[in-house]
Amino acid sequence: MISHCEFRPAVVVIGGSGGIGRAIASVAARERGAVVLVARSPEGLAAAASEVREGGGEAFTLELDLVAGDAPTRLEGFLSAHGLVCDVLVNSAGYGLRGAATALPIDGQLGIIDLNIHSLTELTLHFLPGMVARRRGGVLNLSSVAGFVPGPYMALYFASKGFVRFFSEALHQELRRTGVTVTCVAPGPVSTEFLARSGANQTVLFNILPKVDPEYVAERAWRGFKSGRRLVVPGISAKLAALAAALLPSAAMLPLVGRLQRGGNDQCPCGSGMKFKKCCGTRQIQLRRGPRGIIP
Ligand SMILES: NC(=O)c1ccc[n+]([C@@H]2O[C@H](COP(=O)([O-])OP(=O)(O)OC[C@H]3O[C@@H](n4cnc5c(N)ncnc54)[C@H](OP(=O)(O)O)[C@@H]3O)[C@@H](O)[C@H]2O)c1
Repeated sequence: MISHCEFRPAVVVIGGSGGIGRAIASVAARERGAVVLVARSPEGLAAAASEVREGGGEAFTLELDLVAGDAPTRLEGFLSAHGLVCDVLVNSAGYGLRGAATALPIDGQLGIIDLNIHSLTELTLHFLPGMVARRRGGVLNLSSVAGFVPGPYMALYFASKGFVRFFSEALHQELRRTGVTVTCVAPGPVSTEFLARSGANQTVLFNILPKVDPEYVAERAWRGFKSGRRLVVPGISAKLAALAAALLPSAAMLPLVGRLQRGGNDQCPCGSGMKFKKCCGTRQIQLRRGPRGIIP
């Protein structure tokens, strides 16, 4: 049995098999400590583990579906069995769905709450008290520029990222002077599989904002966390998007984001089953052109 003082600190990357999580794991590996990669796909985990080893770190992998229940207990058991303790928790697992909330499957939308909100919150609350007791380490949570505004046609995703930002920033304040940091990272579009999986690559919004590489986000996120930052918004276009969201009133921002997020081939939110542009899209144009050009 390993005595408590023999436990070694580990960086635990949730969503470490791909995208931003995998890139953060590679950056963390340069510190030559233990890096625990958690995700579902064994191939992705194996590839990420060899990158961690090439970078000088010691890699551990855990195949785990975070929404299947008891994830913190299973992760805690894995860490203990390997003589590790969660020193830094990186919450990078997340997904989104694009489309009208009334047209998208309810289960898929609730799954966003389960992963992006419930799982992230549960893991954060599970591991933070130990960090505070040891007076070191912290949590790096992945939000998004989507966390700065409500997002019509990706309503659940934007709302989930708003939650992550508010939750993380509040914890950052609560934990000042404890030796523990909570950092929120809010990137704009990043070139990962997320964009195609979520359908965000079909929106004007995600296409007008320049994409950055996951490695770029990882470098800035890790540096920001290490220097105790509350919020990291990597890249100039993400910073401008966050600034616009802060300055523009909701009455202007909501229709703008809605227009940039909607695709002409999307199902109409009215539930007709028709394409938006052949249904309410046409009606809106007719209404806008109403008698003597007056908008009713
Ligand atoms: N890409 C962007 O444009 C962008 C922009 C802003 C913010 N973000 C946020 O950044 C985070 C990372 O995004 P990404 O671009 O790296 O996405 P990604 O390439 O799709 O990677 C997502 C990671 O989460 C893991 N994952 C997903 N569902 C899981 C589950 N149920 N249980 C365990 N692991 C799960 C995936 O691994 P498995 O599939 O192997 O389980 C993968 O490792 C997300 O929270 C996302 O919302 C992304």
